[in-house]
Amino acid sequence: MKLMALTAAALALAAAAPVQASEALAKKHACVACHVVKGPKTVGPAYADVAKKYAGQKDALAKLVEKVKKGGSGVWGPVPMPPNPNVPEDDIRALVKWILSIK
Ligand code: HEC
Repeated sequence: MKLMALTAAALALAAAAPVQASEALAKKHACVACHVVKGPKTVGPAYADVAKKYAGQKDALAKLVEKVKKGGSGVWGPVPMPPNPNVPEDDIRALVKWILSIK
């Protein structure tokens, strides 16, 4: 029985890991300087609001990867997001996938 409880705990940890990894990635690349995960808009929109806006849009991943790479403004207001040329494409893809999965 003890073993089963341990296995369940390990599974729960494994399921939670990707979210934590992406939050760490957002910290590593300083996305968190302008974005919160949930809550009121700061400099940029909260990631939960981004997920809501693009829910069900098939091209959202590709579109948002480009946007994070090149920066831009006008979707959430006049304040631009600066381009992020130093963030590896794989990391941007992982970040956008994570953002779009936030509920
Ligand atoms: C200097 C502040 C700043 C930083 C740093 C920043 N952003 Fe943004 N971000 C913004 C602003 C402002 C907007 C809104 C742009 C708009 O209205 O079009 C935005 C918008 C977005 C959007 C939604 C784009 C859209 O067109 O709907 C995503 C996704 C996003 N940011 C992800 C990221 C990720 C990932 C990082 C880190 C690699 C990051 N941002 C770093 C300010 C920032």
